[in-house]
Amino acid sequence: MSPRTIAISGASGKTGYRIAEDLLQRGDQPRLLLRPASQLPESLQGCDQRRLELSDAVALDDALTGVDGLVIATGARPSVDLSGPMRVDAWGVQRQVESCRRVGVRRVLLVSSLCAGRWRHPLNLFGLILVWKRVGERALERSGLDWTVIRPGGLSEREEGLASEGILWTGPDAQTSNAIPRRLVAKACVEALDTSESIGRILEVTSRPDLAPQLLATVLATSL
Ligand SMILES: NC(=O)c1ccc[n+]([C@@H]2O[C@H](COP(=O)([O-])OP(=O)(O)OC[C@H]3O[C@@H](n4cnc5c(N)ncnc54)[C@H](OP(=O)(O)O)[C@@H]3O)[C@@H](O)[C@H]2O)c1
Repeated sequence: MSPRTIAISGASGKTGYRIAEDLLQRGDQPRLLLRPASQLPESLQGCDQRRLELSDAVALDDALTGVDGLVIATGARPSVDLSGPMRVDAWGVQRQVESCRRVGVRRVLLVSSLCAGRWRHPLNLFGLILVWKRVGERALERSGLDWTVIRPGGLSEREEGLASEGILWTGPDAQTSNAIPRRLVAKACVEALDTSESIGRILEVTSRPDLAPQLLATVLATSL
């Protein structure tokens, strides 16, 4: 496959930077969409960086012009300000989707969350986050773009033993618990970007060391 330029928003985040690292490793050119004060790991210092606020439509359009796809890995950081999920996970996603439509970016992948859309869930104590995540998902689903939503379970920083660890891929509202290392979420996102059968689908992902790795294309063709 020829190198693509893929924008990653939230590329300073613990999932976002791993997505950018994976794309770099497979020969793509990540374009990192960052806030003015976002911090990046050393591994990404040499990448194309665009610093902006998501509320700045002109800057967002400029940053997304010419890319082959966008991975949205932004997410409200834990805070006493409970409006974060509404601002970032709903309206922030919507702004990115609108910008893609304006500048002609067709392929968009969103990192959301297991249980998105649920009202009764303890995670909603943080600003109704699961409700706002579903609003963000809906904005993408209705966009007419080539979209995929990845809903991971609880995220971990574990990096050991992942080469042989399989991802459990399911459709929407099939999984409610369990976890997945962020490194495997990054792998899932890059694989979904490359798998056209994932377009128009919500895919939930968790992982287990006793599960054999399987290609997403095979899972989509056989069990989803
Ligand atoms: N934690 C979990 O167990 C869990 C489970 C399922 C799904 N998720 C979701 O998975 C995604 C990745 O999670 P993570 O823990 O890896 O992320 P993270 O480390 O918290 O990173 C969040 C990213 O979003 C950016 N961001 C936050 N507020 C922003 C704003 N107002 N404007 C622009 N960018 C903003 C941050 O930028 P700065 O670096 O500038 O702050 C950072 O790049 C998130 O959407 C999260 O909600 C999390």
